[in-house]
Amino acid sequence: MKVAIIGQGYVGLTISAFAAKHHEVVGFDLNSAIVSQLNKGISHIEGVASGDIKQAIFEGKYKATTDGSEIAGSEIVVIAVPTPLDVNRKPDLTYIDSACKVIAENLTGPALIINESTSFPGTIRNYIKPAIEKYSKQMFDHLYAISPERVDPGREDFNQKNTPRLYAGLTLEATAKTRDFYSTFCDNLVEVSSPEVAEAAKLFENTFRQVNIALVNELAQISHALGIDVRETLDAAGTKPYGFMKFAPSAGVGGHCIPVDPSYLADVAEKAGVEATFIKRANEVNLDMPQYIAGRIAKDNGGSVKGKKVLVVGVAYKPNVADTRETPAELLIDALNVLGAVVTWNDPVVGNWHGTESSPLSGADIAVVVTKHDVVAAEDILKSAPYVFDTTGKVKGAVQL
Ligand SMILES: NC(=O)c1ccc[n+]([C@@H]2O[C@H](COP(=O)([O-])OP(=O)(O)OC[C@H]3O[C@@H](n4cnc5c(N)ncnc54)[C@H](O)[C@@H]3O)[C@@H](O)[C@H]2O)c1
Repeated sequence: MKVAIIGQGYVGLTISAFAAKHHEVVGFDLNSAIVSQLNKGISHIEGVASGDIKQAIFEGKYKATTDGSEIAGSEIVVIAVPTPLDVNRKPDLTYIDSACKVIAENLTGPALIINESTSFPGTIRNYIKPAIEKYSKQMFDHLYAISPERVDPGREDFNQKNTPRLYAGLTLEATAKTRDFYSTFCDNLVEVSSPEVAEAAKLFENTFRQVNIALVNELAQISHALGIDVRETLDAAGTKPYGFMKFAPSAGVGGHCIPVDPSYLADVAEKAGVEATFIKRANEVNLDMPQYIAGRIAKDNGGSVKGKKVLVVGVAYKPNVADTRETPAELLIDALNVLGAVVTWNDPVVGNWHGTESSPLSGADIAVVVTKHDVVAAEDILKSAPYVFDTTGKVKGAVQL
């Protein structure tokens, strides 16, 4: 089958690499730099090997493009574009809208259109289908389905093949064709009764994480105030073989999913007349963590970090990836700057961020670890400053969150 995948980022490229083992894949993206790299067989995503892209190109199974007309003739179109929050922290569907436009303007026959981008219940039925119909010059009987993506970039034990995948179509035919498509490269398909259930389940999975991370971050603050080691407490609670799931304290949540998706659920809840109180409170607790950490560091350093050289170690939102979207390091740097510190950052995996280069891991008065990549040795972090504050629990000998 000819499959068009709209968006060649973390989700779209991952799907492209798996789908290209069985289908002819056109990876459409607006970013010409990414497209030109991909056509040279260079992957920009951890977890997608350049060798796999090169092999697929060599076999004539993969091509990246910025040209919407190359979507023509596709039997399946997968949407994998960003679904961020706008300035008011409300769902921003502008990327979905532009994806719908390019699909509508370029399809030359009926296709199955699947949304993998994370969004609120009702997106495929009430937003994507009407948008494609609005932009289409020629009306085709397209089928529509949802299959929310669960990829965890950088993870090696779970991938497209062995991660259970939810799916549902707007019609029985759409559901059946969606199952046929994913069964070519996924072993565990879970059909649900409506697209809205799949959309809601995806949002709830990430809301569950966000709320539990906030809870454990609150516990970290309580434990510190009581003089108890939070990680030992969590290890102790984790010995209960049922009814408990361990989450780790941190500088907050980052990435394109956990800080964002719950707000999609909160927004749709509010529109339906239900206040999503847990989601709001969890957002507040997680977003306040950098402020709390800056306060702890100042207190430990004679009450002030004014004029002190503070090195933020690890600005990616999680270990071993270069993704800095919504990273708590950003809020921490802001909080330290407000307190008058002279802040630099070190992250060899990210390399370049906001137009500045990663600083050496040395010569600071204070180092604060937000993310600990495997390639950065704990001993080197400890040597980088006389005072090291660790939010990750991975730098033994540092002051712990
Ligand atoms: N990153 C993850 O771990 C993850 C996991 C599960 C679900 N998701 C969801 O998947 C969706 C995509 O996320 P991502 O992390 O892959 O984003 P990303 O930023 O890595 O990639 C998105 C790509 O889409 C391109 N793009 C934007 N608008 C476009 C358009 N109109 N046409 C074609 N290309 C366009 C961008 O240039 C970019 O390359 C989001 O809804 C996200 O919430 C992400």
